[in-house]
Amino acid sequence: MKVFATKVIPDNAKAFLSDNNIMVDEWTGGNPITKTELIDTLTSGKYIGLFVLGVKIDAEIIHAIQNNIQVISLLSVGYDNIDVHAATVAGIPVSNTPDVLNDATAETAFLLMQSVARKAFYNYKRIIEGKWRNDSFTTNLGTDLQGKTIGIFGLGKIGFVMAKLCKAAFNMEVIYHNRSRNEQADKILQARFVSFDELLHSSDVLSIHCTLTPETTRIFNAAAFKKMKKSSILINTARGKVVDESALIHALQETEIWGAGLDVTDPEPMQADNPLLQMANVAVLPHIGSATVDTRNRMAQLAAENMLLGLTGKRLKTVINEEIYSSQK
Ligand code: DGY
Repeated sequence: MKVFATKVIPDNAKAFLSDNNIMVDEWTGGNPITKTELIDTLTSGKYIGLFVLGVKIDAEIIHAIQNNIQVISLLSVGYDNIDVHAATVAGIPVSNTPDVLNDATAETAFLLMQSVARKAFYNYKRIIEGKWRNDSFTTNLGTDLQGKTIGIFGLGKIGFVMAKLCKAAFNMEVIYHNRSRNEQADKILQARFVSFDELLHSSDVLSIHCTLTPETTRIFNAAAFKKMKKSSILINTARGKVVDESALIHALQETEIWGAGLDVTDPEPMQADNPLLQMANVAVLPHIGSATVDTRNRMAQLAAENMLLGLTGKRLKTVINEEIYSSQK
């Protein structure tokens, strides 16, 4: 049995698959595989499964590959890059990699929060430019986090870890906005469920951890930034499209908010001439939320287990389109 991966995947996953007689071919091109290349590859008759990372799988691709590909295993928790409905209609089960990346992603949000609060990226750049400590006692200062309020937009598992870190490290008060209350957070973190408006008004740091849906697309827009504290910091490790990036640039230029830390941007990759990269109170990372050896190995192992289960006719461990098991192909 042979499967295809849109990027190189960790060795542990390949070893696990090989032990189960599944061989993996990987896309090793410098640029992401194009839609045409992907369709040509997957309709060659060589592959029966697909590992997806870093490419969009739309309905057209699904239709083209539905007679070849029996399982689609994503190497991400987010699945906004795949038309799940089309996969369900085509009878293809799709899985993601939840839970195993909660800590790594929350730690990235925490890292960005601290980096923005102390202008770390900007100060590092100034050392490289030969401007070590050219400041007076009162210029280029950061902001304290101790005892401030952390607002979480989308308090699921990753948001919970971020809130827990903020409370443990800086005794921050936790408020959150969700579709429904998170009782574990209420109880363990004494978190307070608030309206979206109150989250905007009251957060000193507002960290985004929601999924990308039509409802959350660009929900952080010009109107939202105007409601935030002028001293506040926005952190986004979820998806770039949750934030209206032009409105964010404007809000920072007009000091409607104080700073921003982004691990995700819109578009990705961010262009090198993006004004956000020149701002002292902004820290940008290239979508590395899950990028640790341990976490990527765990993600790959889970994705490989899902692949094996699917190819042997079993239910995927972390299936996204549950309904596949009750619908007819
Ligand atoms: C995820 O797993 O969704 C990360 O953001 C990587 O895409």
